[in-house]
Amino acid sequence: MGFDSGEGLPTTRDVRDLHYVWPAGSFQMDWPALEKRLAGRAQLILGNISETGSDWQPPADAPLGAVLFDLDLYTSTRDALPLLTKSNVLPRVWCYFDDIFGDNPEMALTDFIGEGAAVREFNDHPDRSILRDNVSPARIFDGMMSEAWHQKMYIYHRLSHPQYEICLSEDMHQLRLIA
Ligand SMILES: C[S@@+](CC[C@H](N)C(=O)[O-])C[C@H]1O[C@@H](n2cnc3c(N)ncnc32)[C@H](O)[C@@H]1O
Repeated sequence: MGFDSGEGLPTTRDVRDLHYVWPAGSFQMDWPALEKRLAGRAQLILGNISETGSDWQPPADAPLGAVLFDLDLYTSTRDALPLLTKSNVLPRVWCYFDDIFGDNPEMALTDFIGEGAAVREFNDHPDRSILRDNVSPARIFDGMMSEAWHQKMYIYHRLSHPQYEICLSEDMHQLRLIA
C-alpha cells in the first residue's frame, strides 16, 4: 500500500517545509511506467495525504507492521502520521524516515523542521512514541555493512493497543547460579 500525490511535492506555506531545499512540484510521477510495476495486491492511492489518509479504510486481513515515510515535508509527514492510529496497525511497528537526516549540507535537518518536527509533535502524546530503536538494528543488520539508512529506522510503540502487553516469550526467563 502506498500513498502519493501523483503530482510531486505540494505547494505549502509552512516555513518548516524546507522550501529552500525542495521546490513545489519536485518529484513528478511517471504513472504509466509505475503502474506496470504494481504487482499482486500492491496499491497506490493518489491524492494529498491530508485527505487520502483519513479516508483510507484499512483492510482487516492486512496487519500493518512497517511504514516507510518519504514525503520530505513537515506538513505532509504530519498529515501522514495519523495512519499509525488505524485499526490494522500492530502494537510495535518499524518506521523508516528518509529525510530525518541527510547528507545534503544545505538541509541542516533538526527536530524543529521537516520530518523530525512532525515526529516530535506526534510523540507529544502519552500513548505513543516513535523513537530510534536501540536494539534491533544491531541484530537485523548483523553481518551486513552498516549503511546510513539503517540509522533512519525507528520503532513506533502503540501503548494502548489491546495486544501490546501480550508476552511473546514462550518460556520463563531464568538465569542459573553456577556453583
Ligand atoms: C522524494 S519523493 C519520493 C517518492 C518515492 N517514495 C520514491 O522514492 O520514488 C517525495 C514524494 O512525496 C510525495 N508527497 C509529498 N507531500 C505529499 C502529500 N501531502 N500528499 C501526498 N504525497 C505527497 C510527492 O508527490 C513525492 O512523490
